[in-house]
Amino acid sequence: MKFNIALLAGDGIGPEVIDQAVKVSDAVAKKFGHEITWKPALTGAAAIDAVGEPYPDETHDVCAASDAVLFGAIGHPRFDNDPSAKVRPEQGLLKMRKKLGLFANVRPTFTFPSLIEKSPLKKERIEGTDLVFLRELTGGIYFGEKGRRDEGETAYDNCVYTRAEVQRLAKKGFELAMTRSKKLCCVDKANVLETSRLWRETVQAMEKDYPEVEVSYEFVDAVAMRLVQWPNSYDVLITENLFGDILTDEASVISGSMGLMPSASMGSDIALFEPIHGSYPQATGLNIANPLATVLSAAMMFETAFNLPEEGAAIRDVVNKSLAEGVVTEDLANGGKAYGTKEVGDWLAANI
Ligand code: IPM
Ligand code: MN
Repeated sequence: MKFNIALLAGDGIGPEVIDQAVKVSDAVAKKFGHEITWKPALTGAAAIDAVGEPYPDETHDVCAASDAVLFGAIGHPRFDNDPSAKVRPEQGLLKMRKKLGLFANVRPTFTFPSLIEKSPLKKERIEGTDLVFLRELTGGIYFGEKGRRDEGETAYDNCVYTRAEVQRLAKKGFELAMTRSKKLCCVDKANVLETSRLWRETVQAMEKDYPEVEVSYEFVDAVAMRLVQWPNSYDVLITENLFGDILTDEASVISGSMGLMPSASMGSDIALFEPIHGSYPQATGLNIANPLATVLSAAMMFETAFNLPEEGAAIRDVVNKSLAEGVVTEDLANGGKAYGTKEVGDWLAANI
């Protein structure tokens, strides 16, 4: 098959980790007889510097015309330390999600047998964890009306959801649960928030369409606690944008390194694949960043965007092999030999 893939390296370590995912994807394409044409485009601080805009129209056109988008990271400390900055790299990410209609962010959390000791959590608590968050990505407090009043002394961010937005996300959750262990947890704060009550009411009304799925409703504060206490009691979790942002960072601790967790953002047309970690500015250009989250995002791309499970499995297998053989970056080296970002990528591509 032939694919056009938009390649958005972004900021910080983005370009370095993206390079490795490209190498590995090309190796897979070669092995299985596919042809990938990469379409690089600017995003984030890199795009602000070049054209004054974090998600330029040209970039959107490249994404919209591609079969999938592979994304690195966005963000630069020079904006983080300047609350008055008018244009911020993150706005590019939000605009991209909105314009591409990427309403469902799929964030799996799983453990790697060879890394189980790396997690700060006790082995017996996390063994067997295999859960997926479906985070709503284009609504809620991220996109509600925001601003200042009272001469800047009061600030507000509105959280707004429509029933239709909840339904389309929940539908993906139910469908995903049907392909797994048929357990779905709706995470909300329905004891306090009106938007959460709409979520709960909407999901409850959908239960009858999926009689095999066992649905639970839990408050977000309780989930934050149970997630690190008994992560393997969860399977598919659906939640709104901000809760999902926070809980998925928390969940990444279970696997032992944020450098390992991939994600997919889906809409009705195009899908985007990216590591859940950020731009890690301190590591930029040092060839130390872990490329595995991006490489595993490419695996998700083959599996979900192109419906090629064997190609995805080939990537997952070689990643597991690198972990088992200790071909890892310093975050996983445990005081042993640490490989560079590029060397890990080369090894993975050579071993596909
Ligand atoms: C994420 C990130 C983004 C978010 C930031 C960079 C805007 O933290 O993808 O989780 O909050 O959604
Ligand atoms: Mn986040």
